[in-house]
Amino acid sequence: MIAAAGSGQRLGAGGPKAFVEVGGRPLVEWSVGAFTTAGSVDEVVVVVPSGHEGEVEADAVAGGATRAESVVAGVKAASGDVVVIHDAARPLVTAELVDRVVQRLADSDAQGVIAAAPVADTLKSGRAGVIEGTVDRSALWGAQTPQAFRADALRTAQESAAEAGELELATDEAWLIERVGGTVLLEESGGPNLKITDRADLAVAEALLTSRP
Ligand code: CTP
Ligand code: MG
Repeated sequence: MIAAAGSGQRLGAGGPKAFVEVGGRPLVEWSVGAFTTAGSVDEVVVVVPSGHEGEVEADAVAGGATRAESVVAGVKAASGDVVVIHDAARPLVTAELVDRVVQRLADSDAQGVIAAAPVADTLKSGRAGVIEGTVDRSALWGAQTPQAFRADALRTAQESAAEAGELELATDEAWLIERVGGTVLLEESGGPNLKITDRADLAVAEALLTSRP
């Protein structure tokens, strides 16, 4: 399930980020291509801004006002025992990474597995521009997508958060599982898996995508 229903305010391209051209294709199609190629994926559902359902090379449904609501809409439309959530804003995802998170889930008793990267920068806590301390980064990871879940566990966690009015607090789906005491594993993504937020990110992604073998 590919979340592509955002408006792309920070990119400022004058239209939805998912349809901005990068490396000769609309951004979302890089993710659709990786998921279609992944042997572990039977079905691809893309969540797009309402009215754009006909503009992707896969089944599409309309998203919601927030990312979490869009994912709820996409998970409703998806079938299967396992659902893999991915942000269209990460076009460098590979079929290999998708298959690896799905396989890790199949090999475990956890409710989910997420792609993640160890934090590379030295981390400071601070207020008003003054350092208060240095944070031990050895146990810190940057959460990415793809994120694979047992579909029943994710649906239950989404309903629980929605009933508590906390769905919009979710910046990823792993948090929804954490919130109800479930277990989510970290799978190191390895290769570049950057998220496109602004113009500079678009230029970096373009360079990486067009230099691929
Ligand atoms: N997304 C979504 N539905 C929303 C908001 C976001 O499906 N209502 C998706 C985006 O399409 C993107 C991913 O969630 O693939 C991560 O969101 P983000 O990078 O913040 O994208 P946008 O919300 O489009 O960008 P901005 O916040 O700059 O407006
Ligand atoms: Mg956003």
